[in-house]
Formats: sequence, structure tokens, C-alpha cells
Amino acid sequence: MKIFEYQNHKIINGDSLEVLSNEVLDNSIDLIFVDPPYNIGKNFNGHKDKWATDDDYLNWCYKWIDLCISKLKPNGSMYIMTSTQFMPYFDISIRKKMTILSRLVWYYDSSGVQAKNYYGSMYEPILFCVKNPDNYTFNANDILVEAKTGAKRKLIDYRKNPPQVYSSEKVPGNVWEFARVRYRMDEYENHPTQKPIALLERIIKASSNVGDTVLDPFSGTFTTSFVAQQLGRKSIGIELQEEYIKIGLRRLNLAEEYNGEKLQKEVRTFENQKIPINVQTLNLFDEQPNGTYIHK
Ligand SMILES: C[S@@+](CC[C@H](N)C(=O)[O-])C[C@H]1O[C@@H](n2cnc3c(N)ncnc32)[C@H](O)[C@@H]1O
Repeated sequence: MKIFEYQNHKIINGDSLEVLSNEVLDNSIDLIFVDPPYNIGKNFNGHKDKWATDDDYLNWCYKWIDLCISKLKPNGSMYIMTSTQFMPYFDISIRKKMTILSRLVWYYDSSGVQAKNYYGSMYEPILFCVKNPDNYTFNANDILVEAKTGAKRKLIDYRKNPPQVYSSEKVPGNVWEFARVRYRMDEYENHPTQKPIALLERIIKASSNVGDTVLDPFSGTFTTSFVAQQLGRKSIGIELQEEYIKIGLRRLNLAEEYNGEKLQKEVRTFENQKIPINVQTLNLFDEQPNGTYIHK
């Protein structure tokens, strides 16, 4: 296990069961975001996300779920993800230990999903759970979205006395639409299941305050820690793969080098390729002094 710590942020390279058991104090965390391997065969830097049986996967999950619950403060919140096929088991298990306040759907339009013999998967489920439904953080005013109904049409609600214009903002419902992280997006990192910054912004703004501690036991590209840092929260991120630890150290600006290797963002193909210029592409690229073209 390796621990990198700077100011209010900790990046821990190790197995989450071991790290949670030995390195994180009980009742010390305000918010946990958990995005574990989904047991659907994704490749995490050579490690396949697939257990021998469904029960093996679930029994492993129940261990870290229990640990996460013990690490949360009495007024803490947890957001937890997994694949659609395993979420019902999570739900049934967690509702005995916490209060599930929302069953969220993260919906995305995905042109890559082109199933022809069944309905392609266009969403991922997220449970929003709290330890104490009478005492938890929920900063509704920090996550308001446009209310598209009456307010958009500039209607007046005459049932109110005196009549009032419809509110132009509201707390988001339980279906959230955010684009998946795509190769061309600025935030893209080389990881198969990177979560969007916008998703974590909503969660961290709603369910924590400045100075609170946010924990992510399966950090991947460290989106949670990155957003926590941007929003003035403290963070603890755990990740098994060294390759992804390097991404976290760079994203949070905790180190410029790792074992003598300069930490820099991978150059994407469109950032350094020589592109044949024709009339269609001419306006889309800026020519660089070295003769390459960068997309505007
Ligand atoms: C679904 S991804 C998380 C992606 C992350 N939310 C992001 O935005 O990039 C799950 C991560 O868990 C890591 N992982 C798998 N088993 C682990 C374990 N036992 N302990 C810590 N990390 C583990 C994988 O390497 C992978 O990066």
C-alpha cells in the first residue's frame, strides 16, 4: 500500500477492503461515492472485472458496503453505483442498513449502443442513501436546474393567493442526463469507465459542505477527488492500479513525477496527427508551427 497525501487530499494505492479496514477511521466521512467494478468484464489495465459467480461478486461487495457504512459519520450520505443487473441485490441489502432516499437513473444518449435484438442499455442506476433520514446534508439550492414547465412558458399560478409566477428553478428529479465522457472531451482520461465531472459536481454540491471529507473507494481516474478539490472539500481516494494512481496524482496536482516518470496527460490522436487538409476540414483545425494540426 502506498499513501500520497498533500494538504487536504489523500490518494491511496491499495486494495479497498484493506485500506478501508486499516486506514480510514470509523464515523469520519461525510460523503462516500462508490463506483465499483460492475462484474461485467471491463478491462481495468489488464485486470478483468469478472468474478467466477454472481454470489462471489455480491459477497465481495457486501464486505466493502459494510465497511463504507461504518466509515460514514452519523449524518453522512452514500451514493452507490453498479450495473443494472446487480443493483436490485444492492438495494435489498442496503435498505436494511441505511435509508435509501432516491433511486437515481443516470441517463445518457449513447450512439454506441446499437442493440438489435433487445433494448440497449442507456442508463446506470445510483442509490442515494443516508444513515439518518432526520439529519443529513442536502444543499438543494446549490444544485437547482431550470424548471421547464410553467416558468418557461411564463405562466402564472392562479391557485396561489396572491397569484405567483411559476418558479424558474427546481431541484433535479431522479433521472439525470449527463453526457458520458468521450474521447474528444477535455476531461477524458485513458480509463474504460470514467465518470463525468458534472455527475460528481451535483452529488458533492448537494451532499457535502466546504471542508467536509469525501471518500471514493474505487477511484479510477479520481474524478471524485478532483471535483472535491475544486469545490473546497477534503478527499480520500483509493485505487488498486498504479496506472490510475498516476492519473489521480496529476489530476489533483499532487505530483509532477512518479518514480522518475513525468506525469503528463496522454496525447490523443487528434491532438498531434498530421491531417490531410481539404475544404471540409480546413476550417476545423489550426495549423501549428511544426506542421501539425490541432482541432479548434
Ligand atoms: C468503475 S471504475 C471507477 C471509475 C471512477 N469512478 C472514475 O470516474 O474514473 C472502478 C475502479 O476500481 C478499481 N478497483 C478494482 N478493484 C479494486 C480494489 N479491490 N481496490 C481498489 N480499487 C479497485 C479499478 O481498477 C477501477 O479503476
